[in-house]
Amino acid sequence: MATIADAGLTFTTSAHPAPTSAQTRSDVLANPGFGTNFTDHMVTIEWTEGRGWHDAVIGPRQPIALDPAASVLHYAQEIFEGLKAYKQADGAIALFRPEANAARFNLSAQRLAMPELPEALFVEAIERLVALDRDWIPEGEGSSLYLRPFMIATEAFLGVRPAKQYKFIVIASPAGNYFKSGAPAVSIWVSDYTRAAPGGTGAAKCGGNYAASLVPQAEAIARGHDQVVFLDAAEHKWIEELGGMNLYFVFEDGTLLTPALTGTILPGITRDSLLALAREEGLNVEEGRYSLDQWREDAASGKLVETFACGTAAVVTPVGRVAGRDGEFTIGTGGPGQLTGKLKSRLVAIQRGEAPDSHGWIRKIG
Ligand code: PLP
Ligand code: COI
Repeated sequence: MATIADAGLTFTTSAHPAPTSAQTRSDVLANPGFGTNFTDHMVTIEWTEGRGWHDAVIGPRQPIALDPAASVLHYAQEIFEGLKAYKQADGAIALFRPEANAARFNLSAQRLAMPELPEALFVEAIERLVALDRDWIPEGEGSSLYLRPFMIATEAFLGVRPAKQYKFIVIASPAGNYFKSGAPAVSIWVSDYTRAAPGGTGAAKCGGNYAASLVPQAEAIARGHDQVVFLDAAEHKWIEELGGMNLYFVFEDGTLLTPALTGTILPGITRDSLLALAREEGLNVEEGRYSLDQWREDAASGKLVETFACGTAAVVTPVGRVAGRDGEFTIGTGGPGQLTGKLKSRLVAIQRGEAPDSHGWIRKIG
């Protein structure tokens, strides 16, 4: 079993003096929900101009002190990632493609004028936290430990320029299904708002993108849907992605289509993994453009048989119904599609260690 990566920075570790009781923890793990419960520890690493990354600490999870002038509070210099640790069939603990999250984190850092974090340090920080909080990984189907690495600008300075001080933090949260409804397929609302424009930050995982998606997402919920889908900013015609997931379309001849990464879409790691798995299945997979009008027409004619959303939090989630200003349409039977189910099973089996990891996606934590 691999040992924890050593990125060359010494981590100071201090165990929580009063950790959560075993009873409370097991109550949480029995019904983890999403994003509301947290483990006992966190990682923090500081960055200062001229000094680089320093003071790597893994210690009790606690509030962070910030100067009220810290740039993140004013100009939103913040980026984050999301990935999961799984309890595998043989009891081992595994991360899924953490190196891919590390690489995407650095692309986000570049776009937000923030310092890059060596990929090995990103992975080591996560591995150390998961190893220390290993008793917090729920084991039920669809459950895992969700890891949230993020970076904020901490310099107290109100001028508009990249900060000279940052904090990288990792927290962990036991997670079950992302969608509370538990419905077999979700319903999505086509927003009139746009998420990302050409030249903007759509391909970066920065908090600002999500702040801008809250009103459209709330509108979707108010209208009785689970998620919002965004169209492109220029023509308001081409399907891009959901507030927190990528999309795939499945056609009657077995072809799969996912919107191409044009710079306004987040390059999802689940999306990328499914591209590889579908190609292995011998399916014809295309990255391209697909319009809302075509989607509606193809759903009505039966040419389009399935649509699914994919992402770390949502895994693979069938889309059954789509609604927008111009009316509503159902996809296939409105329930989960066959190919959607098959691809989800293949992905989850690899994540759970129940199928061979021929791509080297699994990183076990000893
Ligand atoms: N698109 C958006 C906007 C997201 O927030 C996410 C979630 O991270 C995704 C797509 C899916 O990305 P991934 O599969 O890497 O989780
Ligand atoms: C993830 O899937 O990790 C995300 O960041 C999506 C977010 C909406 C929870």
